[in-house]
Amino acid sequence: MSSLLAVLDAIESESAAVELRARSYELLGDLTGRTVVDVGCGGGRAVAELAERGAHAVGVDLDPDMIAVARTRWPAGEFHVGDATALPIETGSASYYRADKVLHALDDPALAVAEARRVLTPGGRAVLLGQDWDLIAIDSDDSETTRRLVHAKADSMPSPRVARGYRNLLLDAGFTDPVVEVHTAVFADDTALDVLKRITDEEGWLAEQAERANANRILVVVPMFLVAAQA
Ligand SMILES: C[S@@+](CC[C@H](N)C(=O)[O-])C[C@H]1O[C@@H](n2cnc3c(N)ncnc32)[C@H](O)[C@@H]1O
Repeated sequence: MSSLLAVLDAIESESAAVELRARSYELLGDLTGRTVVDVGCGGGRAVAELAERGAHAVGVDLDPDMIAVARTRWPAGEFHVGDATALPIETGSASYYRADKVLHALDDPALAVAEARRVLTPGGRAVLLGQDWDLIAIDSDDSETTRRLVHAKADSMPSPRVARGYRNLLLDAGFTDPVVEVHTAVFADDTALDVLKRITDEEGWLAEQAERANANRILVVVPMFLVAAQA
């Protein structure tokens, strides 16, 4: 399957993804001089964008290789290796918390949301963003195999449906005033193939999708959940 960073690089430069990230920053609030923790920061793009907007942005990721890439790409940024469930951040020291496409990878996402509450100052805000892995729509001649592959991918991760639970996770952790938005990512070019190669390496099925891409007939639709709430 394609490497995670290569796929993220392809997806995250699409204009809809740029707009979605911008909306996630807007839902945090006024960024100037505020400390924002971006958890599961990957290659660090959001940290750089938040810093450009005047924030003191701190990226945390469990994967030392991701942090190494982030530090190389954005040498002025602050990055730490750390776990979403035990952040290397002082209690009450951050105004904002952000986790983009991360909580599905956790066995117990509630622990990460409790940790978000711990690091936030009272009145701070958290934004959770990500896809529900059971809700991906793919146009295919073989709908049965498509359903099986999408469900198999979802079943391979610890918390595939966490995105539909973001609102309740935040409320259960003591956050208030949740705002729920769902934005739809539409892939109808070669990026769709990159996305599908993260879902499966089943060659016959991917061959049909490659033909579709060549014929301008590929379509992958991914609802993205975006939920903000106040600490
Ligand atoms: C799909 S990537 C998303 C990266 C980035 N947020 C983005 O939107 O491009 C998920 C990231 O979460 C990180 N991650 C997974 N489990 C984690 C954990 N328990 N604590 C912190 N980061 C974690 C992975 O290493 C990976 O970089």
